[in-house]
Order: sequence, then C-alpha cells, then structure tokens
Amino acid sequence: MRKFSPEYLRRTRDGMWTGSRDALRDLSLSDRNRVLDVGCGTGELSRVLDAESPGDVVGVDADTELLAVARRETGLGAVAGDATRLPFVDDAFDLVVCQALLVNLPRPTDALASFSRVSSDLVAAVEPDNAAVSVDSTVSAEVALERSVREAYIEGVRTDVALGDRLPDLFREAGLRDVRTRRHFHRKVTEPPYDELDVRVAARKADGSGLATHEAELRRTLSDSAYDALRRDWRQMGKAVVEQMQDERYRRAEVVPFDVVVGRVPDRL
Ligand SMILES: C[S@@+](CC[C@H](N)C(=O)[O-])C[C@H]1O[C@@H](n2cnc3c(N)ncnc32)[C@H](O)[C@@H]1O
Repeated sequence: MRKFSPEYLRRTRDGMWTGSRDALRDLSLSDRNRVLDVGCGTGELSRVLDAESPGDVVGVDADTELLAVARRETGLGAVAGDATRLPFVDDAFDLVVCQALLVNLPRPTDALASFSRVSSDLVAAVEPDNAAVSVDSTVSAEVALERSVREAYIEGVRTDVALGDRLPDLFREAGLRDVRTRRHFHRKVTEPPYDELDVRVAARKADGSGLATHEAELRRTLSDSAYDALRRDWRQMGKAVVEQMQDERYRRAEVVPFDVVVGRVPDRL
C-alpha cells in the first residue's frame, strides 16, 4: 500500500471543494443519515461531507497515523480498517463514498463490493483521471518534464491511476444500479504571494526529493541512464522555479479532472 504524508494530502486537496460542489449533487448529501468516507486519510473529504450533510460522518483508513490527524483536525469519528473488508455490519450507512482511493487499489472491484455490503442506498467514488492532468508554468521545461514523469509513472505504477471512463463500468460490474457520472475540475494555482508550502514544494523540485518519491515506479519503465538524465533535468527545472520565485515571476496552474460516480445498491433478497 502506498504511503501518503499529511502534507501531501493537504497540498493535493487544497481548495478542491472550496468553489463549486455541484459535482457532488448525486450523492444526495442533504438527506443522508450515516455517511462513511473510505480511505479518508486526513479527512479532507470527510470535512466536506460533514458540512453538506445533516447525518453522522465516519472515516475509515488503513493508515493509523493519518487517522490520528483526521480525528484531531475534523473532530469526526475515524476508525482503522481495510476498504476491501470494511469493519461494519451490512447496511450500516446510507452513503459509502471514497476520494482518490480506488486508483490506489490493485483490485478496486473488491472495495466496491465491500462498499455495497455496508451501504443500504448509495455508493460513490471521486477519482482523479491522472492521464488527463494539465499543467501550465512560467518555467517552460516544467510542463514537458511533468508530462514525461506522469506518463512514465502511470506506466510503472501497479494500480490503475487513470480509471477515467472505466469507473462507471466498475460500478455496474459490482452490481450497482442507476450509475451516474459528473466531472469536477480541481484547479490549483501557484502565484505570488507564495506560502510556506509553495516554497517547500519548489525546494523539493530543486533538490530532486520530490521526484525521488516516485523513483520505484519510474525505474520500472525508464533505464538507469534515462532516470539519471530525468533527475538532472528535473533538478535544473526546480532551480529555475526557485529563481523565478525569488523575484516573484513564477506562476503555475494545474488542472486535475476528478470523476464523481454514484450508484444505487440493489434491493437485497
Ligand atoms: C490518495 S489518499 C486519499 C485520502 C483522502 N480520501 C483524500 O482525498 O485526501 C488514499 C488513502 O487511501 C488509504 N488506503 C489505501 N489503501 C487502503 C485500503 N486497502 N484500505 C483502507 N484505506 C486505504 C491510504 O492510507 C490513504 O489515506
């Protein structure tokens, strides 16, 4: 299981649902009684669910360190458990939802079967289409390098991180009915005045440590010399980012499309 740091989750979810929440419409949050956020991490989605629903929101995650942060920062219930064998009785919730979980699982359908078992009504997933991410930057090398890294990473990672339009089919295969999909675009902008996190991310580009977090996946598809060349170009690009930041010229915009898929649990016999 890939490990996520609280800082990574904070950075990648920053502002995700502060604008429009229209793509969450089919989750019917305004009339839910008990909502489960599976793979809740630090509770980034749990917070949104709690704000939009009158019902109780509970998180579950396999990573106990992230759960401790979720409990502390959201004040909501959060328990340890595996998404594919949820530690709840049948029909315990009327909405079971995850965000950026299925793309990290080797067998996402096992998780959907478990979601269906513990939901009496709706099952939903909010998953990034990592193959359709777009980046724009005042450091032109950043655009091309990020594209190369993304492509090599998608090829090298052992799970399907770009489920995209296959997600509704997975829902149907899991026996869910009335499957609906909406797309939400998460736009993240880095521009002056930069905050502490922006500065840290730029420093991690310049020293190569940001790229190193994906080293195992990248080395599965790149030769040693190709990886070394990529690392050299990446660090050079990072130094250009830091330089531009020093005189406030650096701007970067990234758009990550998320598919929000919702299905209904069939009546049990
Ligand atoms: C990309 S993070 C998403 C976290 C959160 N949903 C969000 O959007 O910020 C994926 C989360 O799924 C959790 N996870 C991965 N595999 C899991 C499993 N089999 N059972 C439960 N949680 C799992 C990870 O610990 C991590 O918190």
